[in-house]
Amino acid sequence: METDDVQALYGGDYAAGYNDIWQHSDTWSAEASFHVDSIRELLGPTTRWLDAGCGTGWNLSHFQGTARAGLDLSPDMLAQAVAANPDALEFRQGDLRDDVPEWHDAWDLVTCTGQPYSYVDRLDDIATIFDNLAGWTGPDGTCFVPMGDLTDVAGVPMDIRRPEEEYPYDTPMVDAVVWSLWEHDRYHRQMIWPSVSWCVKAFAQHFGRIEIHRWPHVPPWIPVARRILVASDKRAEGDDRPVVLIEHPVPPVPAELAERFGIGVPADAPAAAPDPEPEPEPEPEPARGPGPASEPVGGAEPADAADDSKWRSMRRRASKRIRG
Ligand SMILES: C[S@@+](CC[C@H](N)C(=O)[O-])C[C@H]1O[C@@H](n2cnc3c(N)ncnc32)[C@H](O)[C@@H]1O
Repeated sequence: METDDVQALYGGDYAAGYNDIWQHSDTWSAEASFHVDSIRELLGPTTRWLDAGCGTGWNLSHFQGTARAGLDLSPDMLAQAVAANPDALEFRQGDLRDDVPEWHDAWDLVTCTGQPYSYVDRLDDIATIFDNLAGWTGPDGTCFVPMGDLTDVAGVPMDIRRPEEEYPYDTPMVDAVVWSLWEHDRYHRQMIWPSVSWCVKAFAQHFGRIEIHRWPHVPPWIPVARRILVASDKRAEGDDRPVVLIEHPVPPVPAELAERFGIGVPADAPAAAPDPEPEPEPEPEPARGPGPASEPVGGAEPADAADDSKWRSMRRRASKRIRG
């Protein structure tokens, strides 16, 4: 997408309502909280934190008093961020593709949630963005990047390859998926999500350690446990050690969320709140960075995850709730 298109997409009333549409929604509130909880674990008393593609500054707003800053392309999203973070170090309107030389090695923590890197026209642009995120991360710093790929969009499981792994000759590789989304009155046009393997390879050029964390698989109508790339041990010039690549298992769903989403309730149990009106035809699952799919390799499925009819019913209820 062009800069103007991104600014229009994330402009006006949509920016003012963004937190309600996404962070506070039934579908994405759990993930938004996981982001905040994970970021909390990465922050110390002296941490300097940059949220790249910070949007409304919702992540940042949970950490008043922390030395923190944000970058975003949308002036309207940034206006929300400024209002929610009066004590922040800095908010900058800019493009993730453009380097900021004064930020080289400047931040102990660089986060990039909600896939802000995907609103570009070429995979090479995402390589540039990842180079910038890495360049802005300090020598002992950490880069925290939630991801999505074909697995999340279309339910196609893809193994995570080590960066040095040779691809078999004459075999097609899926480097990325291009996908679009209508939600509310907005069209997120042709976003690019690189494969997790592609992301690992890109970050391994800059970091000696890459961990792929998983969120608990919740809510159950999103049939994938989401993945987050956490890169650390930044390489000095000439460092060509093999990367340490760690894939973490899917953690269990916390009890409070299991109760909230009825996980573990038998498929034929009566619904907690019966629908008062006939349900519309199933619609595509709204998604931001996050999206629907089946479980990739490893990871525990909820016991009822294979029950198609239950999923369809949950999705209908979810999209109805989201549309209000
Ligand atoms: C899905 S929102 C995510 C916002 C926030 N990080 C969150 O987790 O809620 C994507 C954000 O990326 C921003 N964005 C898109 N392309 C960008 C670019 N090239 N440079 C900087 N920001 C960009 C948009 O303006 C929008 O605020």
